[in-house]
Amino acid sequence: MPVDNVGVAATSTIEVALGDRSYAVHIGSGVRHRLASVVARLGAERVAVVSARPAESTPETGVPTLFVPARDGEENKNLAWVEELCRKFAAFGLTRGDAVVSCGGGTTTDAVGLAAALYHRGVPVVHMPTSLLAQVDASTGGKTAVNLPAGKNLVGVYWQPSEVLCDTDYLRTLPAREWTNGYGEIARCHFIGAGDLRGLPLDEQIAASVRRKAEIVTADERDTGLRHLLNYGHTLGHALERATDFAIKHGEGVAIGTVFAGRLAHALGRIDEARMTEHLDVVSGYGLPTALPIGLAAETLIGLMRLDKKAVGGLAFVLDGPRGAELVRDVPAHVVVRTLAEMPVAALPV
Ligand SMILES: NC(=O)c1ccc[n+]([C@@H]2O[C@H](COP(=O)([O-])OP(=O)(O)OC[C@H]3O[C@@H](n4cnc5c(N)ncnc54)[C@H](O)[C@@H]3O)[C@@H](O)[C@H]2O)c1
Ligand SMILES: [Zn+2]
Repeated sequence: MPVDNVGVAATSTIEVALGDRSYAVHIGSGVRHRLASVVARLGAERVAVVSARPAESTPETGVPTLFVPARDGEENKNLAWVEELCRKFAAFGLTRGDAVVSCGGGTTTDAVGLAAALYHRGVPVVHMPTSLLAQVDASTGGKTAVNLPAGKNLVGVYWQPSEVLCDTDYLRTLPAREWTNGYGEIARCHFIGAGDLRGLPLDEQIAASVRRKAEIVTADERDTGLRHLLNYGHTLGHALERATDFAIKHGEGVAIGTVFAGRLAHALGRIDEARMTEHLDVVSGYGLPTALPIGLAAETLIGLMRLDKKAVGGLAFVLDGPRGAELVRDVPAHVVVRTLAEMPVAALPV
């Protein structure tokens, strides 16, 4: 795993240009220590830091600070946790002139972001993502949400952070499977305009992924068009997560879904064979899974893919083509079935 790449000295800053809600995303070793200057710029007199990481990895804030250990993971990403956070903010005396800081993976940045958006009808939030997935994806773009028993991310709002600090030093403790999870998102960036990031130092891979996401979010903050691109590889990816009861992790599903998207685009005559093979090369080049898990029925996957939020009744995929990647609706089911049948199969990743 690319842990050797962690901590390369350079840092990058990427602007997310959204008018008076614009903000910077800082990437690199040690950038979390900019927190005190961010808090000073915001004019906050106190902050609440909600962190899934050990308290000692929280940088100085420069003001009186409430430290709240976060309960992370999908099972805790719910409204009860958001209410509990808001109660803690109130008991601490956090006002709407103060700020909230999240520190953790995407479940933490999503839930804490929502709590910040709701508390006093919105207080500034600074994200300090600590998983690769949260650094390349979840912490930038302003989507916050929690889960309901009926589905993931069903309750949320758009609430842009005031600053994002992607400190690559946090990644030193990341388990191997969580690296895979993040690299699934980096791999799909190859096909949505981020360029070929293979072989680059980790912080450059993160920066390029964030830069592309920032461009897309700037053009389509509320997910009514271009932001679909971020779902490259996700139609099958989400179905694989659900069909395996989440034994397949999100990034693994996206990786397999990206290989599939290349095959499907080729089957529909949108790309040539070389470009289809590039999908396999890129995904396998990041050491990610490329085959469907053994024993999943095509009908099950198709049924789940019909539930995809991009599909309005039919089957919808973000697919490469002559004009680059775009959302393609009403893809014929028989082509999807045939392409699924042609995918290699392998045992579930463990
Ligand atoms: N808001 C968005 O735009 C957006 C985009 C993509 C994903 N998401 C959300 O992000 C979530 C997935 O994010 P995730 O994979 O980071 O989930 P997560 O928060 O559950 O973190 C994954 C695991 O990694 C651990 N971890 C995190 N940082 C660590 C570190 N530095 N060292 C050791 N362990 C660490 C966590 O404790 C957890 O066990 C999902 O809920 C998804 O819906 C949101
Ligand atoms: Zn994703």
